[in-house]
Amino acid sequence: MAIEMELNGNWHYPAAIRFGAGRIGELPDACRAMGMARPLLVTDPGLAALPMIADAAAGCRGAGLDCEVFADIQGNPVAANVDAGVAAFRAGEHDGVIAFGGGSALDVGKAVALMVGQTRTIWDFEDREDWFTRVDVDGMAPVVAVPTTSGTGSEVGRSAVITDERDHTKKIIFHPRMLPGLVIADPELTLGLPPNITAAVGMDALSHNLEAFCSPFYHPIAQGVALEGMRLIRNWLPTAFHEGDIVAARAHMLAASTMGAAAFLKGLGAMHAMSHPCGAVLNTHHGLTNAVVMPYVLVFNRPAIEDRMTTLARYLDLPAPSFKAVLDWVLDLRSEIGIPADLAALGVTEDHIELLAKMAETDPSAGGNPVPLARPSLKALFQDAVRGRIG
Ligand SMILES: [Fe+2]
Repeated sequence: MAIEMELNGNWHYPAAIRFGAGRIGELPDACRAMGMARPLLVTDPGLAALPMIADAAAGCRGAGLDCEVFADIQGNPVAANVDAGVAAFRAGEHDGVIAFGGGSALDVGKAVALMVGQTRTIWDFEDREDWFTRVDVDGMAPVVAVPTTSGTGSEVGRSAVITDERDHTKKIIFHPRMLPGLVIADPELTLGLPPNITAAVGMDALSHNLEAFCSPFYHPIAQGVALEGMRLIRNWLPTAFHEGDIVAARAHMLAASTMGAAAFLKGLGAMHAMSHPCGAVLNTHHGLTNAVVMPYVLVFNRPAIEDRMTTLARYLDLPAPSFKAVLDWVLDLRSEIGIPADLAALGVTEDHIELLAKMAETDPSAGGNPVPLARPSLKALFQDAVRGRIG
């Protein structure tokens, strides 16, 4: 007899999460729990035009909170977006942030909450050595995070990815207290995601779990989370793609995305090291880029991950568990949900490879790849991914 589960819960790992359909109704209460009376709701312009945001802001106002919406941000957000958010926060005398949206909105919201009380520039808080100790912690504002896509997992992350326009690199801004104090994870907010976005962000979640699972560091907690995250994706991403109105599929994908971010504390790898430069230079979609490079990276890493892929294949209940079983599953999934087969389809050309490989080599994710990444192998990887040559 199968166990029946209600897809609802209050979790306290890896952050305080109120998970379940309809729980966006608890947003005013969540703000109060975080000590906010005047929240600034940070989102993106696309979402700001939807009833979802108007309803959330109206709900807060109806509960007596002085809530304003800030939506002047872009995909692959830049420092100017954070600066504008900080200005809006100060102008409205806000006392906390509701970070509401996909990865870009969540990251800008978290970065605004970090920056409102600092005197240094945001680049002083890049994730290097102990730079986070430069942060004036008393100046940080509280954050309630509300994810509306199932991919980034930024709602449970302690960093924000912001593009530095001076050198067109994506930089990771980090402080342990950037972990939002409270998360509302309501799968109903993801029901309207179109299939192509569902696919791209779902593959971002897969890449987080998969890269974490393959990274060479010792972190059995993350390892376990990653395995189950990938099982949920195998079982539910095709349903979320084909039948996006099935709440259970959306719920499991939202959980898998949160799990991916919890898992990648263990490390990421070449998928993200390759995807970040593509996003910074060509403004490609992050999840989509990870999805395209995924099989090329798996093949490149094969010598180091053969055993792990067999373990994974068993857990995913793939036929004839082996590296090849996982690779075939990824390739089948990729084509089933309409992910392009090569980077050329995203506008990457042979002429970009030199620069992209150079940037990937120093990307913060590169260090977590199970096979060390050097410039020549990255060039070869990019070449394969542009030309569509697997193995
Ligand atoms: Fe990612």
